Amino acid sequence: MSTPSGPDIYKRKALAEIEAAKAETDLERIRIEYLGRKGPLASMLAGMTQIAVSQRAALGAAANEAKRAIEDALAAKGAHLRDVRLADIAETEAIDITFPGPPLGRGHLHVLTQVQRQIETVLESLGYKVELGPEVETEWYNFEALNIPPGHPARENWDSFYFTPDLLLRAHTSPVQIRAMQRIKEPPIYIITPGRCYRRDAPEATRLPYFSQVEGLAVDKGLTVGDMKGTLLYMIQSLYGEERKVRVRPSYFPFTEPSFEFDVSCGICAGAGCKSCRHKGWLEVGGCGMVHPQVLRNGGIDPDKWNGYAWGFGIERMAMLKHDIEDIRLFYESDLRFLEQF
Ligand code: PHE
Repeated sequence: MSTPSGPDIYKRKALAEIEAAKAETDLERIRIEYLGRKGPLASMLAGMTQIAVSQRAALGAAANEAKRAIEDALAAKGAHLRDVRLADIAETEAIDITFPGPPLGRGHLHVLTQVQRQIETVLESLGYKVELGPEVETEWYNFEALNIPPGHPARENWDSFYFTPDLLLRAHTSPVQIRAMQRIKEPPIYIITPGRCYRRDAPEATRLPYFSQVEGLAVDKGLTVGDMKGTLLYMIQSLYGEERKVRVRPSYFPFTEPSFEFDVSCGICAGAGCKSCRHKGWLEVGGCGMVHPQVLRNGGIDPDKWNGYAWGFGIERMAMLKHDIEDIRLFYESDLRFLEQF
């Protein structure tokens, strides 16, 4: 049988244990021991009916007071122990912002940029200068100045994206021929112009609506198809190796006369014919020809004094040829498994 002072004794014992507790788990154990359903305060209250009525109120009040005091002490100590624990974590697991981060992996130039720079290096060694032009062009530079009047069926080959009836995304780098002649004025002119071009083509393995070309233009006295072929042969062998052969086939462009398609012998089968050259032995890289007199005139140059040759090759195509890449879309998909090979 408990006495009215019983709750007080337990209260003091509990408070002393709470005071001494070192961890939050100790507090939980103390809570169960003193305040649990089988704890001393609970059994005291349960046994009330067995004590004198006159003592019941005092015992009940003492037990409730003891319970509240223990709960308060548990809460206060619990908050304190949690603060200590969090401060400890902050101390041991804090991010040290003065610590140097892991080194970033170094990137490298995109394979198309690499090939473009190689082309530039080779032609610069022959005295060509790099000349750049705008990607948004006027109709006149993209077509008329290149001898392709409105309604000419050849316009279909260079169908592009229009902003206004007069402004479009250039369909080839050839407009820079005209801009270069107008800017430099006095031949000799030896320039190459790399850059992005656009056409209304659906994406497929060999074609994209955006791609890059490198145009070449030479204007001088008495230039011949032989000069052009020799220059292009030198470029191809510098890029791909001396075993490569080149050939020109008659073709048509409104801005050159005569005009040619330019092929390079397949590097995989050395011209014998294989899957990658579709059994032709040759791969087409672009067009070329002797600059049409009217194009020289449109550029402000007298065709009776000067003549020239020009070419326009696809840079993606040249990169595909160099690295045996079968699908042009790979260049623009940003897949590191592809890009990191080069
Ligand atoms: N501009 C032509 C094209 O995009 C290529 C070319 C350039 C042909 C220069 C001849 C001379 O197809």
